[in-house]
Amino acid sequence: MNEQSRGSTPRTLTFEIFRFNPEDPESKPHTQIFELEEEPFMSLYIALNRIREQFDPSLQFDFTCRESICGACGMIVNGRPALGCKTLTNNLPEHITLFPLPVFKLVGDLSVDTGTWFRQMVERTEAWIHPDKDFDGNATEEKMSDELSQAIYEGDRCIECGCCIAACGVANVDPEFLGAAGLNRVARFIVDPRDKRTDSEWFEIVAGEQGVFACFGMMACEDICPKDLPLLEVNAYLRRKMLASRFAASNS
Ligand code: SF4
Ligand code: FES
Repeated sequence: MNEQSRGSTPRTLTFEIFRFNPEDPESKPHTQIFELEEEPFMSLYIALNRIREQFDPSLQFDFTCRESICGACGMIVNGRPALGCKTLTNNLPEHITLFPLPVFKLVGDLSVDTGTWFRQMVERTEAWIHPDKDFDGNATEEKMSDELSQAIYEGDRCIECGCCIAACGVANVDPEFLGAAGLNRVARFIVDPRDKRTDSEWFEIVAGEQGVFACFGMMACEDICPKDLPLLEVNAYLRRKMLASRFAASNS
């Protein structure tokens, strides 16, 4: 329901927010209730800042860009992972629950450390171009078709918010699972012709116990992704590619 269809009656919103400071031995996980008058076009970013200014300066949460670009503000909003800066209160009921994303290390309250998870994923998959020649700063720039650069850019649109990982049943029981964001990152380098890794090298990275075949196909990742990345298509592409490369290897 949007603001127009609801009418102009101002609402009092009830925020039930997870509180816990893992650095404080006295702190115990609990939820805390805050009530706030709704404002027009109020995002969770604005609401949480109002709560921090008016009621509790110790409330921890992360925001940087406020524009769905930095990926810092992922949180569980009424049971679903979402970006706080992109979520408007007028699309939510009056009672709003906010929890930190699971899987990632809790920093405090709604703030989690997604960086450590993404760094280990990048290191495990060596998510950078592996060329077959030394870099020559004086070389002429190599051309690339629009279609190919668009396909690479599509994978690069991931903002590393962690929402797909938090929504994933497999990642919740196995934090080593590459997850949709990790598989999307791998696919981005597979389609890039400047990366010269072989099919069998990709197989080692993608087809292990914590790779693409560990996915149960529950599809939450694509439902949740705030950048609308085609994560199921990426998953299917990787499965087909891994099976084709193994089939080719067994016939050679
Ligand atoms: Fe976030 Fe989507 Fe990237 Fe997952 S794939 S980390 S949900 S932007
Ligand atoms: Fe950057 Fe929400 S604050 S994505």
